[in-house]
This record gives sequence, structure tokens and C-alpha cells, in this order.
Amino acid sequence: MSANAPTDFLPINGTDYIEFYVGNAKQAAHYYQAAFGFQPLAYAGLETGLKDRTSYVLRQEKITFVLTTALTPDSHIAEHCKLHGDGIRVIALWVDDAGRSFEETVKRGAKPYLEPKTETDENGEVVLSGIHTYGETVHVFVERKNYKGVFLPGFVKWDPVYKPASLGLKYVDHLVGNVNWGEMNTWAEFYHNVMGFNQLISFDDTDISTEYTALMSKVMASSNMYIKFPLNEPAHGKKKSQIEEYIEFYCGAGAQHVAMATDNILETVAKLKSRGVEFLRVPDAYYDTLMDRVGKIDELLAPVKEQGILVDRDEDGYLLQIFSKPVQDRPTVFYEIIQRKGAKSFGKGNFKALFESIELEQGKRGTL
Ligand code: FE2
Repeated sequence: MSANAPTDFLPINGTDYIEFYVGNAKQAAHYYQAAFGFQPLAYAGLETGLKDRTSYVLRQEKITFVLTTALTPDSHIAEHCKLHGDGIRVIALWVDDAGRSFEETVKRGAKPYLEPKTETDENGEVVLSGIHTYGETVHVFVERKNYKGVFLPGFVKWDPVYKPASLGLKYVDHLVGNVNWGEMNTWAEFYHNVMGFNQLISFDDTDISTEYTALMSKVMASSNMYIKFPLNEPAHGKKKSQIEEYIEFYCGAGAQHVAMATDNILETVAKLKSRGVEFLRVPDAYYDTLMDRVGKIDELLAPVKEQGILVDRDEDGYLLQIFSKPVQDRPTVFYEIIQRKGAKSFGKGNFKALFESIELEQGKRGTL
């Protein structure tokens, strides 16, 4: 099947941008530059005529983050931050026809967020539309084929002196949503029926459980596989699962982690650590049996163990991955760094070791 087969009513070219609503966008922008190596791209705020918000746009290869903060207490951005803390509000998808994307999804039951609208400036025009998804998260469809500007109309180039080097993060591999008890199937069906996604994989608590925690997960993917959205739902365990902890602190469903791909995870992770990014660490015993479990890999075991990188194999190959600690004070959003060597899956073989290290952190927070 070609990338955008005629049966695909919602052809998506990729993730356009991810917008975070944060308490202090200026400082968050500095963090993503300094810690993750994102490059400054665009800005909108008081100086560009906005009265209620400021946004900084940062980019690394194909990953674009927008950090937005409220300038007034009564804005919906301030409300979002009050309720959820810093978090992901918009998962924007790059499409060829934002009008049709809106029509096709709303016709199938999506709740409208933004009626199609055309925005223009001297660099051309962009058509935007949007629909609601889980929690207060939204999908914005971005049609930018007639636009040559730096980001979107209304934004100006942001070119500060401070520009720490990129760290080799290339594209969004997948983006995971945590949904409430009993809602995973509802949202999996939403992605299937409303957006034409297919279910790649499903896990339940017999696959993913430790002594204390459990969860269920389904991975939904666009028909061209450019977009992958795993969805997690908490399952009953002896103690509180990390999904429950997230939902409690986020006050509802929301985006849990963004997985960003690299071609050299050992180098990228070493640099991220030197820039202050903190990662979860599995017990050293994980590495005692690693080679028996995954077989031969290109990397040497010693640096993989030293960096605390996890490895898993499926029928197509293997993958290397590591998970950051939450990047704000609420135990909510975090990042995964992933390098795929053929594998198309998500590291199921690592879930148990990983959750045990998350439980150690939850224990420290008193939220287990
Ligand atoms: Fe992941």
C-alpha cells in the first residue's frame, strides 16, 4: 500500500508540532535548548501583537516543540496550567488538506476544536483545523503547502545568541496517551473509527505487570505508519500504578511521553546526561541476562550498561531505549529516547524491569 492510499480518508504526512502549555515559557524554552539541544526557531508574544500569550518554537531535525504560556490569569492557557501543570495541549498533525481532515473526522464523530481557518502573512497561507481527543488534549491539522515562513503566520524568527548544539534527536517515533479507567477501548475506537488508524499491538496486565503495578496498552497507528499513538489505561495491581499516579497529578487523561528517535543512542544519551537530563535506571542485574535475552547486538555491552540503556528484540530486529524522569515537578510528562535497529515494537521485554525502577521512584515520592 502506498503511503497515502486512496482509501485513507485522513492522510497524514507526519507530526507537525507538539505544543506545551507551561507556567513559564521563557524558562521552559531555555531548558529544551540547554538540556535537549533544541534550536530556536520562532517567537510570538507582546512584541508581535499578542496580548494573552507568549510562544517559543524550537526545533531539532523533524521535531518541533511550541512552548506557550498565559499572560493573563483568566485565559484558558492559565486554566490548563492550573489544572494539569505543564503539559501537552496540542498534538499537531501535518496534512495536505486541513479542511478535509476536519470534515472527514467530524463526520465520523470527532468533537470540533477549531473550524478550518486560513491564516496569511507575506510568506503565504496556512490552513488550520482541529478536533478534541483524550482529556483536554487536541489534534490540530496543519496544511502548510502554500507557506514559506519560519513556522506559522503570526510568528517571527527567533534568533537568540544562546544556541547550544543539537544532540541528534531526529523525529517523533511515537507519542503515548494515558487515559482513565475503562477508557482505553473508547479511545482506541476513536482513533480507528474517527481517524482511520489501525491497532498494531495490544498488551494487557498479564503482559505488563510487576508485583505492584499493572496497565493495559493498545498501539494505534495511521495507515502509512507515520503516526503511532500507544494508549495506556491503568489496571488493578497491589499498589498504585504509574498510570494512576499520572492521572491523579495531571487531573485527568493526557499525553504521557514523547519518544524521540536518534541514530546513536549511546552518544545522544551521554550528551543529554551531561546537559542535566535525568534518566530512570534499571538494576544492574538487568544486564546479567541481557545477551541471553536479545542475542547479538552491534553495541558493546559495557557502554550500554554504563548508560543504563534498555534493549529489546522482536521478529524484525532490535531496539535500544531509555526513559527520562518526569521533566516537571508533577510526576507526569517524560521522554523516551529510542534507536531502532529493525524492531517495530515498543520494548515489551523491558516493561517489567522498567516499571520496577519507576516504582522505586514512586516509593520516594510516597505515591506508590
Ligand atoms: Fe514509548
